[in-house]
Amino acid sequence: MERIPLIAGNWKMHATIAEAERLAAAVVEAARGAAGREVMIAPPFTALPAVAKVVAGSKVALAGQNVCWEAQGAFTGEISPIMLRELGCSMAIVGHSERRHVFGEGDAMVNKRLRGALRFDLTPVLCVGETIEEREAGRTFEVLERQVRGGLAGVDLAVSPLVVAYEPVWAIGTGKTATISQAQEAHAHVRDLLGRLSQKKIAAQLRILYGGSVKPENADDLLRQPDIDGALVGGASLSPESFGRIINFQE
Ligand code: PGA
Repeated sequence: MERIPLIAGNWKMHATIAEAERLAAAVVEAARGAAGREVMIAPPFTALPAVAKVVAGSKVALAGQNVCWEAQGAFTGEISPIMLRELGCSMAIVGHSERRHVFGEGDAMVNKRLRGALRFDLTPVLCVGETIEEREAGRTFEVLERQVRGGLAGVDLAVSPLVVAYEPVWAIGTGKTATISQAQEAHAHVRDLLGRLSQKKIAAQLRILYGGSVKPENADDLLRQPDIDGALVGGASLSPESFGRIINFQE
């Protein structure tokens, strides 16, 4: 089965409601002509209701930037999968490196979030990636293996919609992108691991996005790699021109 490229924008803690509406309208426009591509945006929670109205009826899917594992309860500062569904989200990012490294989330919590998303019909985007210290110590594959196994513990890949994003921490927001071969090598490794956790043919259908300083200048080369099935874009997703160009990357 062919993997349809997914171009995903993670707006992080950016955009007022008015800015979000303008940006979302530009994304809808850019996505209109992009045949054979899927597009997703993850605005801040506060802008979801307004953005949902802008993207309604378009091919742009909405995602939460994080999600709790419970439907409701005493979880101050969290958002539930049901709340995200109610706001029109069909996807949720889990295990983003900022959640892991700034807010201290570990693999066990990421796994709970991922399973919570699945339980309420949100497609999780599981982010994994090594720090610069881990890469320099030659531990990249070991870290990816721990994060993938930990994040997916107890999940049956044969029946779970899922997207994985490989985002080397040292490439996020730094302007440094992994080289094409570093990225392809990590993606192939993750796919091989997914095959070992399920079956080769299931792993062959799963999309693995690359993230970390993706911009118009490097998107075409990255997205041409056989195991890179899309991009998770932070900074460049805040510019309609840049994100539009990445959505319309040249194969
Ligand atoms: P960046 O962020 O594109 O700004 O590097 C990517 C991400 O954090 O998903």
